[in-house]
Amino acid sequence: MVLIGPSLMCADQGILRDSVETLDDCGVDYFHFDVMDGVFVPNYSLSADTVKDLRKYTKKPFDVHLMVQNPERYIDQFVDAGADLISIHAESTNHLHRAIDRIHARGARAGVAINPATSLHVLDYVLEMTHYVCLMTVNPGFSGQTFISGMYEKVEGLKAKIDREKTDTQIQVDGNIGLNTISKIVPLGATMLVCGTSCLFQANSDLSSSAIKLRVFVQEQIRLNNERM
Ligand code: DX5
Ligand code: ZN
Repeated sequence: MVLIGPSLMCADQGILRDSVETLDDCGVDYFHFDVMDGVFVPNYSLSADTVKDLRKYTKKPFDVHLMVQNPERYIDQFVDAGADLISIHAESTNHLHRAIDRIHARGARAGVAINPATSLHVLDYVLEMTHYVCLMTVNPGFSGQTFISGMYEKVEGLKAKIDREKTDTQIQVDGNIGLNTISKIVPLGATMLVCGTSCLFQANSDLSSSAIKLRVFVQEQIRLNNERM
């Protein structure tokens, strides 16, 4: 399976409810909420209120990406708002293991997010605790950036680490995930796509058409991938 997760920070914030309902109808798999505090990353976006207000309009899982300093302060707030999955940055807390435990204690699935320059070794003592790893394929904070080409090798390395350690951790990729990067990154092991302006929220195409075109493209990549095996 390769899951499609619209990045709602890229949606038109004036029609978020409509966008969520449209994307839900088009069969996306989950919704990705980029939460930014202007400290851990230079931008500011989305809040627990956004999660809470949208929760009643879809049953699809809500994946909250906490790009905030000391994320442990916000885990309860986002679970209470309706988050099903929460990823926290290894670089944003001194107590990564304890923060993951807290996500589990609240009944949500835990992810660790890592920036492009951060080594996979930060996962050494927590990988088996994670449902997913969010590999940033751009520097976090803004949409519309360019994929960092060294991240292909990083996906490969993470897949090898997961296979070695026999965890069933999913690989999420986040940043400039478009048709060209998807065709290369799915064969390397990515299973959760964060879909923003590069493949979904585009000025020259309506949301439904982009979502359906993306779904067809991803299914084709899965078929080709299965043929290679
Ligand atoms: C980056 C954001 C992503 C993504 C947005 O900080 O976390 O959601 O980059 O999508 P793109 O890169 O396609 O505009
Ligand atoms: Zn994100």
